[in-house]
Order: sequence, then structure tokens, then C-alpha cells
Amino acid sequence: MADKKNSGIPSVARLSVAPMIDWTDRHCRYFHRLIAPRTLLHTEMISTGAIMHGDRQRFLGHDESEHPLALQLGGSDPRELAKAVRLARPFGYDAINLNVGCPSDRVQSGRFGACLMAEPALVADLVAAMLDASEVPVTVKTRIAIDDGPVPAMLDELVDRSAERGVQTFYIHARAAWLKGLSPKENREIPPLRHDIVHALKQRRGDLSIHINGGITDPTQAARLAQGLDGIMIGRAAYQDPLALAAFERVLMPQQPQASPPDPHHIVDRMAAYAECEAARQGTPLRAIARHMLGLFNGMPGARAWRRTLGGAMHDPTATSALLREAAACIRMPEHVEGTETA
Ligand SMILES: Cc1cc2nc3c(=O)[nH]c(=O)nc-3n(C[C@H](O)[C@H](O)[C@H](O)COP(=O)(O)O)c2cc1C
Repeated sequence: MADKKNSGIPSVARLSVAPMIDWTDRHCRYFHRLIAPRTLLHTEMISTGAIMHGDRQRFLGHDESEHPLALQLGGSDPRELAKAVRLARPFGYDAINLNVGCPSDRVQSGRFGACLMAEPALVADLVAAMLDASEVPVTVKTRIAIDDGPVPAMLDELVDRSAERGVQTFYIHARAAWLKGLSPKENREIPPLRHDIVHALKQRRGDLSIHINGGITDPTQAARLAQGLDGIMIGRAAYQDPLALAAFERVLMPQQPQASPPDPHHIVDRMAAYAECEAARQGTPLRAIARHMLGLFNGMPGARAWRRTLGGAMHDPTATSALLREAAACIRMPEHVEGTETA
């Protein structure tokens, strides 16, 4: 499978949804897939420990419809990462991504995430071990630096050393991580965005597949930033305004447009059917699914009532899928989904 590993992620991945802990779980990904059929989705970061010692079906299981789908791993031991990759193989992920960008204290105490930027030789060993164990491409998601590390030298060294060992695809969150004194949330907002650094990296390493992430909120901006790069990764904007994913797809993958923009009412019907199956399959409460759908009607008259009704499901363990349909009945569809005022 060497050629598959070396081919990088196919062009289908010009758009991807970022890995987000507690957000991009399997229910969220099922939902996003209904809106954006061709976008590469990422799991939440899963630690090697969770895969080796935890309930693998729970951490790695997913619906077939979620493909193309990348598993993001967190770890700092080459043998453990290789083992996690092997254990994940039967689940059929399309790519395995290494997290070199998360700044949380918990992650730092395990010496993985963003603090790995200080150890590019170790990262190279990690990706080499992962590639050795993997049948699919191994990718890296990183920041541009940590603390006051040199920009862009820190990123350049990490990328060059990882590429030397066979990684072809990099997702760059275009800001530094400040490991002392900022919460993870602040670390996504306070260090300044440096999209220019990502473009400079691609200029220097045109042979690699370079994807830009951080602060991308609308399709026009995405199209501009995508110029000269291989792809765009969207995090919070995809979660908070999920229908926007369809607009991002239209702009970034115009060759294969969806026949028509997704109809949010149709998506509610599909999600209600999914919620029924999940409840029957393993007693999944509606709130575990509905919590990802709060932003579905953003910008449409009735969006507030939708959020309020769905919010009720968060506190009612007996709520059923019927609540989704009831909540959607409050929404009057505008003639055009885009460009309507926010309720
Ligand atoms: C709730 C939340 C959880 C996140 N968890 C992860 C994670 O598990 N792994 C990771 O690499 N990045 C994680 N991130 C960072 C995002 O992947 C992304 O890099 C960041 O939000 C910047 O992109 P955006 O401006 O498009 O949101 C998380 C972000 C958020 C908001």
C-alpha cells in the first residue's frame, strides 16, 4: 500500500473539518456529512492510551457514511502510536493525523500536542513509526510555533523532518500556541493569526500538500486563502454554522457541485431517523445528537425558537426524535437560505 500512503490525501480533501474535542464526535460527523458530502472529516483527538486501554468500539467506531474520515491521534511514544495505528486499522479510517497543536495542560503533561513542536526529531520518529504501521496516509496538524519560538524556523524544521520520513500532508493552524498562561480557548483567539506563514511554507515546499487553518469564517475568504495552497480546514465556523459547510464546498470544490443546496428540513428528517436508530441501537439520548444541531437554522426566521426548543432536549433525558421535527416546524424557510437576517 506504499503508493496509497505516499499519494497524500486525494483532491477530495480540499476542504476539511478540523478535529475538535467534545465537538466532532460521531454524531456531529454524521450530521456534517449530510451537509457536505465530499469534505474530509476528522475525529476528536484520541489519545494512544484511550485506544490501547479503553473501549475501542466507543472511541473508534463510526458510521460508513462518515468517509472520507481521518482519525486524529495524540501521543508522544513511537511504539504506542504505532500500536494505536494498528489497533485502528480494522475501523478503516482514510488517514491518520498526529496532533502537534493542542496546548491544553493535560496534553502538555503527557508531553504531546503543541509542546511536541519543541522536539522535531521526536515528531519525525513518531510519524515514521505511524507510517510503518499504517496502510493509509499519515498527516500532521500543527501550529506555526510555540511560545516565542522562531517563526517560521520552528515550523520549517518540524515540516522538513516529518516530510523526510514520509509525511506529505500538513494542516497548519496559523498561529503560535502560548503554552504558559493561556487557556486552550484563549490560545485559539489571542496569538495573532499569520496566514502568510502558511503561504510561505507552501512557496518553500511546493512538493507537499499544505492546508491552512485558523480564523476562516466565510467562503469568499476561504477561496482567497486557498489560492496557492492545497486546502482549507475549518473548525469553529463549521460547528457554529453547519450549513455554511455546503457553501465552503461549493467554492472550494466547484468541479463536483451538489445538485442543490442542502435543505435543512430534510437534514432534520434524516437526523431524526438517525436519532431513532441510535436510541434503539444503544440507548443514545437525543441530547447527545441534538447538541450539535443548534446552529442548523442560523440566519433564518425562527432560528431562536429552534435553539430554545432543542435546548429543552439537553435537560430532558426522555426527549425523543419527535422533538427535532417539532422544533423544525417553527422554522419558515426563506426563499434563499444564504444572506437572510439572523433571528
Ligand atoms: C472545542 C474545540 C476543540 C478542539 N479540539 C482539538 C483537537 O482535538 N485536536 C486539534 O488538533 N485541534 C483541536 N481544536 C483546534 C481546531 O482544530 C482548530 O485548529 C482551531 O479551532 C482553529 O480553527 P478555526 O479558527 O477554524 O476554529 C479544537 C478547537 C475547538 C474549538
